[in-house]
Amino acid sequence: MDFNKAQKIIGLRVLKDNVIWIWQKNDSAVVIDPAISQPVINYLSKNNLHLNSVLQTHHHSDHIGGTKTLIQKYPTVKVIASIKEKDRIPFQNISVKDGEKLNILDEEVEVIEVLGHTRSHIAFYLNGENPVLFIGDTLFSGGCGKILEGTYEQMYESLEKIKLLPKNTSIYCAHEYTKSNLMWALSIKPKDKNIKDKLLEVEKKISLKELTIPFKLDQEMRVNLFLRAKNLREFTYLRANKDLWA
Ligand SMILES: [Fe+2]
Repeated sequence: MDFNKAQKIIGLRVLKDNVIWIWQKNDSAVVIDPAISQPVINYLSKNNLHLNSVLQTHHHSDHIGGTKTLIQKYPTVKVIASIKEKDRIPFQNISVKDGEKLNILDEEVEVIEVLGHTRSHIAFYLNGENPVLFIGDTLFSGGCGKILEGTYEQMYESLEKIKLLPKNTSIYCAHEYTKSNLMWALSIKPKDKNIKDKLLEVEKKISLKELTIPFKLDQEMRVNLFLRAKNLREFTYLRANKDLWA
């Protein structure tokens, strides 16, 4: 996608560590995983934006909690979610599956199924000069989602899929976990210069009260131990280790 004056993505911090992403183009907006509604409504009103769509990566309450109120406030909104989640995201009105291509705000958006965190988690990918991936709780900077419903193999395969995207893809995840993830990574690889440098960069951003996300795929592949894992066995060891760490 092209970032310019008319098109941008901004992040609203909510709850403990969630980030709601708002992709705006001209006077329209798309909201990704609205944990709660009021900060979204406030932002849209203040900026005279009309809500075109809500994208749902998965069913957890800190991702869909604000959607019902947004539907009441913007009755024509499209709510796009996995067809496999008609029960747990019952208010969806556009049901999608892996590989499906949608037109949203005149941009092509591809649905990529990334299983592991849940049994039906999806991501939304926008190709173009500056590719964008809304990844929900599958990949975090320095970490990856907990395996709550899927298998280690599914999560490993999901990360392998992400690694095939263009290296300049900007990845927008739903939680600000970066610092603690990098501290865990350093506990495994205490001498790793890439991870140390990234931690310094992240601490600086945090001290300036800036978000540490989005992050670029190429840099992430150098610092994220889950993306660096050479096989399922190594990935499984790391994920189990991280679950015990925090
Ligand atoms: Fe989640």
